[in-house]
Amino acid sequence: MTISFSSFASSVTVETAFTVLAIAKRLIANGKDVIELEIGDSPFPTPQRVVDAGVQAIQAGNTHYGPSLGLTEFRAAAADYVRREYGLEVQAENVVAGPGAKNFEQLFCEAFLNPGDGVLVFSPHFPTYVPNIDRRGARAVLSSLKQANEFRPNLEEVEQFIREDPSPRAIFLNSPHNPTGGITLQEDLEGLAELIRDTNIAVLSDEPYDRMVWSGEHRSLAAIPGMLDRTVAAYTFSKSFSMSGWRLGFAVSSPAIIEMLGKLTNSALSCVAPFTQLAGVAAMQEACDERDRQMEEFRHKVVRLVERLNRVEGITCLVPGGSFYAFPSVAPICNRLGITSQGLAIYLLEGADEDRGVACLGGESFGEAGAGFLRLSCAEPDERLAEAVTFMADAFGRTDRVEKFLEDRSEFRLAKPYDLD
Ligand SMILES: Cc1ncc(COP(=O)(O)O)c(C=O)c1O
Repeated sequence: MTISFSSFASSVTVETAFTVLAIAKRLIANGKDVIELEIGDSPFPTPQRVVDAGVQAIQAGNTHYGPSLGLTEFRAAAADYVRREYGLEVQAENVVAGPGAKNFEQLFCEAFLNPGDGVLVFSPHFPTYVPNIDRRGARAVLSSLKQANEFRPNLEEVEQFIREDPSPRAIFLNSPHNPTGGITLQEDLEGLAELIRDTNIAVLSDEPYDRMVWSGEHRSLAAIPGMLDRTVAAYTFSKSFSMSGWRLGFAVSSPAIIEMLGKLTNSALSCVAPFTQLAGVAAMQEACDERDRQMEEFRHKVVRLVERLNRVEGITCLVPGGSFYAFPSVAPICNRLGITSQGLAIYLLEGADEDRGVACLGGESFGEAGAGFLRLSCAEPDERLAEAVTFMADAFGRTDRVEKFLEDRSEFRLAKPYDLD
């Protein structure tokens, strides 16, 4: 008898970025020139000071188990960091270490959700939110983010969720937002705080792009009076300090919630590697200048990329309030060519040209609300970003190639034109 998987495992969905990355790498290995705008990783090396601190920590023997909550010096340094940067009134006891920010999606769901509970997710959304909600047998309730509203959360829909859902238990908030680049403004956070203050609703405030805010300043729900007791704010070293492969992040919340997240960390992964945490301490204390230089480069790249995209007929792209993603609407192009945005992304990579391709993601990778959009990260050098846009404009004009592509890949034919509102 063939062994069977659980119903959760059988239906689990994964981050499409990694699937497209694998296709891009295969094409590159076969000699294709692929401009890679699919993955949300930093092109910069980890700052040398941080690498040195990690190596020294290994050499000094920090290579054994450590506390599940994290090393005391790491927790204290992280508390100092968010106090300094965002005015969060927190100490070491408000911090738990994690292997990046993603793991807190799972732990947050384990901490607060029972089967059948409702979780409001603003969509398009980061693809691993829903599998982590499903893992607990809870329900994701989607609220659409609109380009016309600069992809800010719709508080009327939050109110409706609280009023009408049979068991409203949590909200996933993500600012700066992946994939749209939208940011949640202080007035949005204050409105949200008022709505949930007297409820049993907990919030995962996913903040991996906290250093990539291009308009105004980064704000966290956890900084609003009374919100720390119901908010888990998740931070990562992946983006700000170019440390995605080190797997390091932390969460900030009330001491009681942090104790619970520590228990759940213990049951799932024991602890985060101590030498990685010590590298993180060096990052927060000694690498902020380098971080800020890199962030400034990202700002220029993303602004230039958006300017170029907006010169292409059929594209409308907002300058993101934060993050290193451009999220252009390509709906008129898809309607003209009769292709879905997911199909358009695959066409740019595989079908538009034999020798060259652009790897990016169709907005559907982030839920149906993303249909009609593409997501492009700006990790490549500037001249490659410029080449990518020229290539795209040209590829959109080659209707013969699009038709040939759709003959082979009919699943990407657009059944019904996208709304152009
Ligand atoms: C919205 C969002 N949350 C979480 C993560 C996970 O980051 P980490 O590498 O810290 O696990 C990412 C990474 O791309 C992200 O975009």
